[in-house]
Amino acid sequence: MQVAVVGGGPAGSLLGILLHRAGLDVVVLERRSVEHVRGRIRAGVLEHPSVTMLREHRLADRVDREGMRHEGVVLSDRGDPLRVDFQGLTGHGVVVYGQTELQKDLFAAIEAEGVEYLDEIEELALGDVTNRPVELRYRRGSREETLLADVVAGCDGAHGVTADAVPRGVRRTYERYYPFGWLGIMAETAPVHPELIYARHERGFALCSMRHARLSRYYLQAPLDTDLGAWPDDRFWDELRRRIPPAAAERLETGPSIEKSLTPLRSAVGEPMAYGFLALAGDAAHSVPPTGAKGLNLALADVVDLAEVLLEAKDPGPEALQAYSDRALRRVWRAVRFSWWMTTVLHRFPDDGPFAERIQDAELALLRSSVAARRAMAEQYVGILP
Ligand code: APR
Ligand code: PHB
Repeated sequence: MQVAVVGGGPAGSLLGILLHRAGLDVVVLERRSVEHVRGRIRAGVLEHPSVTMLREHRLADRVDREGMRHEGVVLSDRGDPLRVDFQGLTGHGVVVYGQTELQKDLFAAIEAEGVEYLDEIEELALGDVTNRPVELRYRRGSREETLLADVVAGCDGAHGVTADAVPRGVRRTYERYYPFGWLGIMAETAPVHPELIYARHERGFALCSMRHARLSRYYLQAPLDTDLGAWPDDRFWDELRRRIPPAAAERLETGPSIEKSLTPLRSAVGEPMAYGFLALAGDAAHSVPPTGAKGLNLALADVVDLAEVLLEAKDPGPEALQAYSDRALRRVWRAVRFSWWMTTVLHRFPDDGPFAERIQDAELALLRSSVAARRAMAEQYVGILP
């Protein structure tokens, strides 16, 4: 069986590895160069089940050596910190490990095991996905190529082309745009706190995260039309100090940023996640705001489900892929709800007024007073679905 995987980010790379190991013929087709994909800065938190899964597939050596195990997070409400003890509440933690590093680990396996990964492919066009074989045409350098596939996996992210192969009458998209983005920086400074700080503040949300002992990642809620040029590092650090707990603000180590970017926040799910001989996985099928750190974890979980369906079905076709879609969507919607909830509770919504603010007060008061509320939050954050 020939599988074409469109897109070689974390989802496509992992799928390529799992199917190749099982003896299937698989080709990963990636638009950008390997260097570009390897260098991209993206997410940073691996849920407990993601780490377990990577271990099971012998892909977690470096995650285990270099990842930072976190047993909780801090939620700050207008400067007042509340720790949520993941380990105590669920028996599990998460691992802070950059998607950039995970992508390097996946490339190492791809190279060592001889998974076919073609980068810098251009103008990919999908033929009729309701008939087998599906024809994929693309250009690589000056050569026009055609690939015939029994199954196509669309792992081409939020701006890919495979989702468009599902006709408008079949595919329904559920989405919510948030009226703000995250202004993020990376700096070679010590993280301000050993755990992540998610901070609600009247000036807007802030997040203190990290990659390792000398690499910090910070974000500020910012308007969508924010001009990065208007945010020199000093302005960023001053604003961050205002939004986080005073004890953290005092300790904050500042330094030149090595990256600065603005990410809009959006929730979106396209249903179904399969059509004919095409299945979608990861950001190609859904987007979540980064607030719950779910994007990368959802992508990895989709791929594991899809690989299982492809390997278990005798002759995987529309029915098996539909079963994958049904299974994945149940999980996806729970993560969509959680990241929507965290976003809604912690951000300042410019048009929402005092009622919404009081609701946020009540949400945070509930978390502070109720161990059951904290446990529910912790279970969802670490990714165990009771
Ligand atoms: N043809 C081939 N490749 C494409 C095309 C195309 N037309 N369009 C996009 N791609 C590639 C992109 O260059 C990218 O490398 O598909 C890949 C998609 O990767 P990601 O965007 O990383 O998506 P995914 O693998 O689903 O990873 C999950 O979780 O943390 C979040 O958004 C974050 O990237 C992360 C995602
Ligand atoms: C990150 O470190 O980039 C990060 C961490 C947690 C989030 C989002 C992003 O919720």
